Amino acid sequence: MEKTLGIIKPNAVGKNLVGPIIRMAEESGLSVKGLKMIHLSTEQAEGFYYVHRERPFFGSLTKFMSEGPIVVIVFQGEAAIEKWRKVMGATDPEQAEEGTIRKLFGENIERNSAHGSDSPESAEYEIGYFFSDLEQVG
Ligand code: RTP
Ligand code: MG
Repeated sequence: MEKTLGIIKPNAVGKNLVGPIIRMAEESGLSVKGLKMIHLSTEQAEGFYYVHRERPFFGSLTKFMSEGPIVVIVFQGEAAIEKWRKVMGATDPEQAEEGTIRKLFGENIERNSAHGSDSPESAEYEIGYFFSDLEQVG
Protein backbone atom coordinates (compact mmCIF):
# COMPACT_ATOMS: atom_id res chain seq x y z
CA MET A 1 0.00 0.00 0.00
CA GLU A 2 1.28 3.41 -0.99
CA LYS A 3 0.15 6.97 -0.23
CA THR A 4 0.17 9.99 -2.53
CA LEU A 5 -0.89 13.62 -2.26
CA GLY A 6 -3.64 14.84 -4.54
CA ILE A 7 -4.77 18.45 -4.91
CA ILE A 8 -7.96 19.73 -6.51
CA LYS A 9 -6.72 23.05 -7.89
CA PRO A 10 -8.50 26.44 -7.53
CA ASN A 11 -10.09 26.41 -11.00
CA ALA A 12 -11.78 23.04 -10.32
CA VAL A 13 -12.89 23.93 -6.78
CA GLY A 14 -14.38 27.14 -8.20
CA LYS A 15 -16.45 25.12 -10.66
CA ASN A 16 -17.90 22.72 -8.03
CA LEU A 17 -15.85 19.78 -9.33
CA VAL A 18 -14.71 18.46 -5.94
CA GLY A 19 -17.27 15.63 -5.93
CA PRO A 20 -16.70 14.36 -9.49
CA ILE A 21 -12.90 14.39 -9.07
CA ILE A 22 -12.95 12.46 -5.77
CA ARG A 23 -15.45 10.03 -7.29
CA MET A 24 -13.05 9.32 -10.17
CA ALA A 25 -10.24 8.66 -7.70
CA GLU A 26 -12.37 6.32 -5.60
CA GLU A 27 -13.64 4.47 -8.68
CA SER A 28 -10.00 3.82 -9.67
CA GLY A 29 -9.46 2.00 -6.36
CA LEU A 30 -7.91 4.82 -4.33
CA SER A 31 -9.13 5.49 -0.78
CA VAL A 32 -9.25 8.87 0.95
CA LYS A 33 -7.12 8.82 4.13
CA GLY A 34 -6.94 12.58 4.80
CA LEU A 35 -8.77 15.58 3.34
CA LYS A 36 -9.18 19.31 3.87
CA MET A 37 -9.84 22.60 2.12
CA ILE A 38 -7.32 25.43 2.46
CA HIS A 39 -6.56 28.76 0.80
CA LEU A 40 -2.78 29.04 0.35
CA SER A 41 -0.89 32.32 0.53
CA THR A 42 1.53 32.96 -2.34
CA GLU A 43 4.40 32.17 0.05
CA GLN A 44 2.82 28.83 1.03
CA ALA A 45 2.32 27.95 -2.65
CA GLU A 46 5.98 28.83 -3.30
CA GLY A 47 7.03 26.50 -0.48
CA PHE A 48 4.97 23.67 -1.88
CA TYR A 49 6.36 24.12 -5.44
CA TYR A 50 9.94 24.81 -4.24
CA VAL A 51 11.35 22.20 -6.70
CA HIS A 52 10.00 24.30 -9.59
CA ARG A 53 11.49 27.61 -8.36
CA GLU A 54 13.81 27.96 -11.39
CA ARG A 55 11.11 27.15 -13.96
CA PRO A 56 9.74 29.99 -16.12
CA PHE A 57 6.17 29.24 -15.02
CA PHE A 58 6.91 29.37 -11.26
CA GLY A 59 5.48 32.87 -10.65
CA SER A 60 2.34 32.25 -12.65
CA LEU A 61 1.81 28.79 -11.11
CA THR A 62 2.14 29.98 -7.50
CA LYS A 63 -0.19 32.95 -8.19
CA PHE A 64 -2.76 30.55 -9.65
CA MET A 65 -2.48 28.06 -6.79
CA SER A 66 -3.15 30.85 -4.27
CA GLU A 67 -6.03 32.54 -6.15
CA GLY A 68 -8.72 30.53 -4.34
CA PRO A 69 -9.28 27.51 -2.11
CA ILE A 70 -7.87 24.08 -2.93
CA VAL A 71 -8.72 20.63 -1.60
CA VAL A 72 -5.73 18.58 -0.46
CA ILE A 73 -6.18 14.83 -0.18
CA VAL A 74 -4.11 11.88 1.00
CA PHE A 75 -4.93 8.93 -1.24
CA GLN A 76 -3.93 5.37 -0.43
CA GLY A 77 -3.91 2.29 -2.63
CA GLU A 78 -1.76 -0.17 -4.49
CA ALA A 79 0.72 1.85 -6.63
CA ALA A 80 -1.22 4.96 -5.56
CA ILE A 81 1.27 7.46 -7.04
CA GLU A 82 1.07 5.99 -10.53
CA LYS A 83 -2.65 5.24 -10.26
CA TRP A 84 -3.58 8.83 -9.35
CA ARG A 85 -1.36 10.25 -12.11
CA LYS A 86 -3.12 7.96 -14.59
CA VAL A 87 -6.56 9.15 -13.41
CA MET A 88 -5.38 12.78 -13.78
CA GLY A 89 -3.87 12.32 -17.26
CA ALA A 90 -1.02 14.28 -18.90
CA THR A 91 -0.03 17.72 -17.54
CA ASP A 92 -1.37 19.45 -20.67
CA PRO A 93 -5.13 18.76 -21.02
CA GLU A 94 -4.74 18.77 -24.81
CA GLN A 95 -2.34 15.81 -24.53
CA ALA A 96 -4.34 13.98 -21.85
CA GLU A 97 -6.17 10.74 -22.63
CA GLU A 98 -9.96 10.76 -23.02
CA GLY A 99 -11.81 10.28 -19.75
CA THR A 100 -9.03 11.65 -17.53
CA ILE A 101 -9.54 14.51 -15.04
CA ARG A 102 -7.34 16.91 -16.98
CA LYS A 103 -9.00 16.05 -20.31
CA LEU A 104 -12.48 16.48 -18.84
CA PHE A 105 -11.89 19.43 -16.51
CA GLY A 106 -8.54 21.06 -17.38
CA GLU A 107 -8.55 24.48 -19.07
CA ASN A 108 -4.89 24.70 -20.13
CA ILE A 109 -1.46 23.38 -19.11
CA GLU A 110 -1.46 25.50 -15.93
CA ARG A 111 -5.16 25.44 -14.96
CA ASN A 112 -5.24 21.66 -15.28
CA SER A 113 -7.50 21.00 -12.27
CA ALA A 114 -5.43 18.47 -10.33
CA HIS A 115 -2.02 17.74 -8.85
CA GLY A 116 -0.37 14.45 -7.92
CA SER A 117 2.97 13.55 -6.34
CA ASP A 118 5.47 12.13 -8.84
CA SER A 119 7.65 9.87 -6.62
CA PRO A 120 7.69 8.31 -3.14
CA GLU A 121 10.06 11.08 -2.01
CA SER A 122 7.81 13.87 -3.27
CA ALA A 123 4.73 12.13 -1.82
CA GLU A 124 6.36 12.10 1.61
CA TYR A 125 7.36 15.79 1.37
CA GLU A 126 3.99 16.87 0.00
CA ILE A 127 1.84 14.90 2.47
CA GLY A 128 3.98 16.26 5.32
CA TYR A 129 3.56 19.81 3.95
CA PHE A 130 -0.20 19.68 4.56
CA PHE A 131 -1.00 16.88 7.04
CA SER A 132 0.14 16.00 10.53
CA ASP A 133 -0.10 12.35 11.68
CA LEU A 134 -3.31 13.27 13.55
CA GLU A 135 -4.93 14.47 10.32
CA GLN A 136 -4.64 11.24 8.36
CA VAL A 137 -5.57 7.62 9.01
CA GLY A 138 -4.23 4.28 7.88
P1 RTP B 1 1.51 18.42 -10.85
O1 RTP B 1 2.88 18.52 -10.23
O2 RTP B 1 0.64 19.64 -10.61
O3 RTP B 1 0.81 17.14 -10.53
O4 RTP B 1 1.69 18.38 -12.43
P2 RTP B 1 2.75 17.58 -13.30
O5 RTP B 1 3.65 16.77 -12.42
O6 RTP B 1 1.99 16.88 -14.36
O7 RTP B 1 3.56 18.78 -13.94
P3 RTP B 1 4.85 19.56 -13.39
O8 RTP B 1 5.88 19.56 -14.45
O9 RTP B 1 5.22 19.07 -12.03
O10 RTP B 1 4.29 21.04 -13.28
C1 RTP B 1 3.60 21.47 -12.12
C2 RTP B 1 2.44 22.33 -12.55
O11 RTP B 1 2.92 23.53 -13.14
C3 RTP B 1 2.03 23.96 -14.15
N1 RTP B 1 2.74 24.03 -15.41
N2 RTP B 1 2.69 25.07 -16.21
N3 RTP B 1 3.08 26.87 -18.36
C4 RTP B 1 3.66 25.69 -18.40
O12 RTP B 1 4.35 25.31 -19.33
C5 RTP B 1 3.46 24.79 -17.27
N4 RTP B 1 4.00 23.59 -17.13
C6 RTP B 1 3.55 23.12 -15.96
C7 RTP B 1 0.88 22.97 -14.19
O13 RTP B 1 -0.17 23.46 -13.34
C8 RTP B 1 1.52 21.73 -13.63
O14 RTP B 1 0.54 20.85 -13.14
MG1 MG C 1 4.66 17.55 -10.72
